[in-house]
Amino acid sequence: MSKVLILYGTRYGTTKGISDEIEKVIQEKGITTESYNLKEQDLKEIPPLQEYDGIIIGTGIKMKKWTKAVKKYVQKRKSELKKRQSTLGFYVCCGVASKKSDISKAINDYITLKLQKLGIQPALIDAFGGAYDLTEGSPITGITRKIVVSIMKSEEGIENPEGKMHDYRDWEQIRNFANKFGELFKKY
Ligand SMILES: Cc1cc2nc3c(=O)[nH]c(=O)nc-3n(C[C@H](O)[C@H](O)[C@H](O)COP(=O)(O)O)c2cc1C
Repeated sequence: MSKVLILYGTRYGTTKGISDEIEKVIQEKGITTESYNLKEQDLKEIPPLQEYDGIIIGTGIKMKKWTKAVKKYVQKRKSELKKRQSTLGFYVCCGVASKKSDISKAINDYITLKLQKLGIQPALIDAFGGAYDLTEGSPITGITRKIVVSIMKSEEGIENPEGKMHDYRDWEQIRNFANKFGELFKKY
């Protein structure tokens, strides 16, 4: 039976939601999956890539950066990932891609340019819109929260962003990515 490795990095939980949806779509195709939150996982314990038929890596973006754990994993495993790039999918979850017209900019800035430096060219890449959780008890707190609120007011024109979840994830786009990934690795 085919097996796919699903890895993700998240700061506020948005990318976990995306990763879970991708995993569900892939499992519906009768494919076995194994999923790891890279921050909670000892990277040494993640099995070698030859145990899998396909690999998907996703990360949230903050201040233009991947999560530290994703950066570390990709750097560490770059030669293995390079060998497996024909069945490698990579995506980011970010504010820039929340605007449909800026998805290609997000792909270029947060995926292509960064992976080029490592010599990795995944078969499938995409950028998904992110979310800003401004409900009570949200992990976005303190000065970061103040900055997010002020950006939402000035750039998004949202008068009163506090107390709400602002979710720009496009679930159809996400499921499309998972479906395309399934097709891609079925060939191998
Ligand atoms: C403090 C902060 C900084 C951010 N910086 C960026 C950025 O530089 N570029 C971008 O496209 N999105 C940015 N975002 C939007 C996040 O990528 C978005 O909220 C995403 O859903 C976060 O994913 P995560 O919850 O999986 O970490 C930022 C969000 C916050 C709260």
